[in-house]
Amino acid sequence: MNYDINLLVHKLADVHSLSLEEYEALITDCNPESSRLLRELAVKTRRAIFGNDVYIRGLIEISNICRNDCLYCGIRRSNSNCERYRLTPDEILACADEGYGLGFRTFVLQGGEDSYFNDDVLGGIVRSIKSNHPDCAVTLSMGERSFGSYRYLRECGADRYLLRHETADPEHYSRLHPSEMSYSNRMKCLHNLRELGYQVGCGFMVGSPFQTVRNLSEDLKFIETFKPEMCGIGPFIPHKDTPFRDYPSGTLEMTCKLLSIIRLIHPPVLLPSTTALGTIDPLGREKGIMSGANVVMPNLSPVSVRKKYELYDNKICTGEESAQCRECLSNRMRKIGYEIVTGRGDFSAVRENSR
Ligand code: 5AD
Ligand code: FES
Repeated sequence: MNYDINLLVHKLADVHSLSLEEYEALITDCNPESSRLLRELAVKTRRAIFGNDVYIRGLIEISNICRNDCLYCGIRRSNSNCERYRLTPDEILACADEGYGLGFRTFVLQGGEDSYFNDDVLGGIVRSIKSNHPDCAVTLSMGERSFGSYRYLRECGADRYLLRHETADPEHYSRLHPSEMSYSNRMKCLHNLRELGYQVGCGFMVGSPFQTVRNLSEDLKFIETFKPEMCGIGPFIPHKDTPFRDYPSGTLEMTCKLLSIIRLIHPPVLLPSTTALGTIDPLGREKGIMSGANVVMPNLSPVSVRKKYELYDNKICTGEESAQCRECLSNRMRKIGYEIVTGRGDFSAVRENSR
């Protein structure tokens, strides 16, 4: 089947849905004119809802200890070269306090699946952040947990949860993960989070090993049906101490293209321009925003641990203080005509009506 790509782009902008075959055609086609059209419509769609606002989320990497062994990830348990650390609750609260002073109103606690952060400990930290800073949102990104655990953390005040689905194809999923991890549990977690009233983020890596164009179109179809409040995508980047060390990185072009497509599929989605994108290109995050993303996530972790939270090689922002990262990103956004806004920046379906 031969598609008119420009027509597909317009169709996506109008009806926010395409067939798997149409997504494949859109992903595969690289003619510069349709790519430009795609980007322009994505930016226009984003602008109609968010103006020139870019939201910031303060990322606190609380532990790189992980019981999982994902084949792509630098902090997988088999990596004996990884120097392990775990922040204390007091250190985490101090990061949040510092972030609050810098204008952050969302804190993302991210870490490996570290059993130290059981419900008591993690719940206590969430409660403290929420009571110290009642005007802030707390986002967790701590992997797969039980329904009861997610429920308890929600009761403690957690507002949002990021759990990338990684790939919407069970077969592909099994090639990226050890056999004890399963696609079905991943999906179950995402549905549990939704049922519990979290604002939920899914997402995937672009250019991960074995990924096909069909896989990417399945990811897009999943986003179209699940309608996540947030969606994290970034290029796969190899880590030297993982089985995927010799695979190539995902590309800037494909990541930006997918950001534009996701914006058109689900206009109000909160879509970060990720650190991984900034790692493969010095202006990657700017280009992500100019493709339709609307969130940046500067690092608030103590500088002493940043280098150790290395999911992939050459990660940026590992030497800078939190205030420097915040400043750097403000300047970068201002240079391209965008303004960082403080405030929780909740997902709201109302935005869909304000277009
Ligand atoms: N390259 C890019 N992204 C990675 N992640 C993990 N390892 C890598 C890598 N090598 C992403 C995964 C995970 C998120 C926290 O980071 O998608 O969900
Ligand atoms: Fe961290 Fe630029 S955003 S140093």
